[in-house]
Amino acid sequence: MLTLEDVFPPFALRISCGPLELRVLRDEDFPELVELVRAGIDVPGLPMPFLTAWHQEPFAPGAPDGFPTSSLRWWWTQRATFAPDEWQLALAVRRDGRLVGMQDLHATDFAQTRTVLTGSWLGRAHQGAGTGTLMRQLVVGFAFDELGADRCESGYIVGNHASAAVSRKVGYVDDGRRRIVQRTRDGKVGVDEQCVTVTPATFVRPDGPVSVEGAQVLRRFVGIGHPAADS
Ligand SMILES: CC(C)(COP(=O)(O)OP(=O)(O)OC[C@H]1O[C@@H](n2cnc3c(N)ncnc32)[C@H](O)[C@@H]1OP(=O)(O)O)[C@@H](O)C(=O)NCCC(=O)NCCS
Repeated sequence: MLTLEDVFPPFALRISCGPLELRVLRDEDFPELVELVRAGIDVPGLPMPFLTAWHQEPFAPGAPDGFPTSSLRWWWTQRATFAPDEWQLALAVRRDGRLVGMQDLHATDFAQTRTVLTGSWLGRAHQGAGTGTLMRQLVVGFAFDELGADRCESGYIVGNHASAAVSRKVGYVDDGRRRIVQRTRDGKVGVDEQCVTVTPATFVRPDGPVSVEGAQVLRRFVGIGHPAADS
């Protein structure tokens, strides 16, 4: 009998280090994820971190709009549109088995660009314990070691000191600023985004040993070879 991982290989991916485990979000995770979002993400005193304030929509489970319905569409879209030319891994982050946040990894035309983009967040109760740094190290290390990426890009709203600190600790360097539009609960606002990039030369690896499962079937699914075979 085939397993879910056999028919959709991203589900086989498991990246772990110490108490942290990253796996592609599954439907069974949704109730815990929704509770986590509902308990709050924003860091007091720091700017709203996302392009759209999806997490601040009225809490209305089972309603046709509001949270979580609007976000369910987004999370399911990551799977429905997964393709070699453009894919996104929505990775649920568990610490000691408990869902604490999400770490996204996105690529467009990866075979040509060898570039991935990341985005992440943690529930407020789980911030400030080193998890944000470790989950970013895990996904960046995975991109370099298992996918053969040359660079990982990210960005944060200027003034988001927590995200800036994570980027700095993981070895990202500043890569220019750009003006972007945020969709807040009060409408559109223009804000400055700090772009940051990390390469294998500047990457700061985690202290502990990292375990990765399911990389080979994922590489096949996105149409790339093992990095060592390319060199
Ligand atoms: C950004 C985020 C993922 C960081 O995760 P975290 O687990 O809190 O970060 P860590 O505990 O690994 O801390 C990393 C560094 O950030 C610093 N930091 C954390 N919160 C901070 C704050 N409010 N102001 C300034 N620095 C802060 C820490 O001091 C630490 O640096 P240090 O080790 O040199 O002291 C988390 O704060 C979060 O989810 N924020 C809301 C969503 C968000 O901003 N996502 C990023 C979008 S670009």
